[in-house]
Amino acid sequence: MANTQRAEKLHFEERGKGLPVVLLHGFPFSHHIWRAQIDALSDSFRIIAPDLRGHGQSPAPRGVYDMDLLASDVCALLDDLGIERAAWVGHSMGGYVLMAALRRHPRYVRGAALVATHPLPDSPDKRLQRVQSAEVVLSEGPSDLALSMMAVLFAPKFDRQSPAARDIYELMATTPAFGVAGALRGMAARPDSVETLRQIAVPAVVIAGAEDQVVKPAVAEEMARSMPGAALVRIEGAGHMPMIEQPEATTAALREFLSGLPRR
Ligand code: MLT
Repeated sequence: MANTQRAEKLHFEERGKGLPVVLLHGFPFSHHIWRAQIDALSDSFRIIAPDLRGHGQSPAPRGVYDMDLLASDVCALLDDLGIERAAWVGHSMGGYVLMAALRRHPRYVRGAALVATHPLPDSPDKRLQRVQSAEVVLSEGPSDLALSMMAVLFAPKFDRQSPAARDIYELMATTPAFGVAGALRGMAARPDSVETLRQIAVPAVVIAGAEDQVVKPAVAEEMARSMPGAALVRIEGAGHMPMIEQPEATTAALREFLSGLPRR
């Protein structure tokens, strides 16, 4: 592997047989956001759903979690499982990790599904806000951040009192403070990935929530247009969490994309 730095051993769920597919969650969640897709897609694919460093049950060391480092952790997991190449599905921050893999470890990527994500770096204001937010989380924990995220994660009509929404809040509020802070600092430092996606050499799909308030649909559309041969799937009635808000439509979009990938 090119550069594992200090790769962490990730906690992960593995189900099914066939083409290996890695499902990467966004920030600050865990692999559990993919529950519906793991259950459905494991009938045809070998699903590997890790908790990224600092999230879920994976180790949460102190430090800055560069997207390259998070990608290296995933490549190390694939090495441990004896998998040479997998289809990667990245949600939001998981998409940033996938873009880092395309840049640094392209040989591990057989196909790329970018879900509710975008290739742009943070503005200076956003960077500052992330760094300040990391300080707050380290001193007071992640509950305030989780509450503020709840306001923007879902399409307006999604029931924020539903068990699914409450589970998402719980995931965010119980992510370790070092994990949340490390990811905030790593996202603040991430580079522009526009050129990486323009030069993508594997099949790709962009899956976008039609009512995403975090990654505006126009940004996802522009990203899809910039990627040679990439399809765009709009998930109606979904915001930033299409796998939770519209699980069947999201699974169907992923199944169609994954089914078209070469097996070797
Ligand atoms: C995510 O869902 O992973 C985050 O909204 C990404 C971000 O904060 O840029």
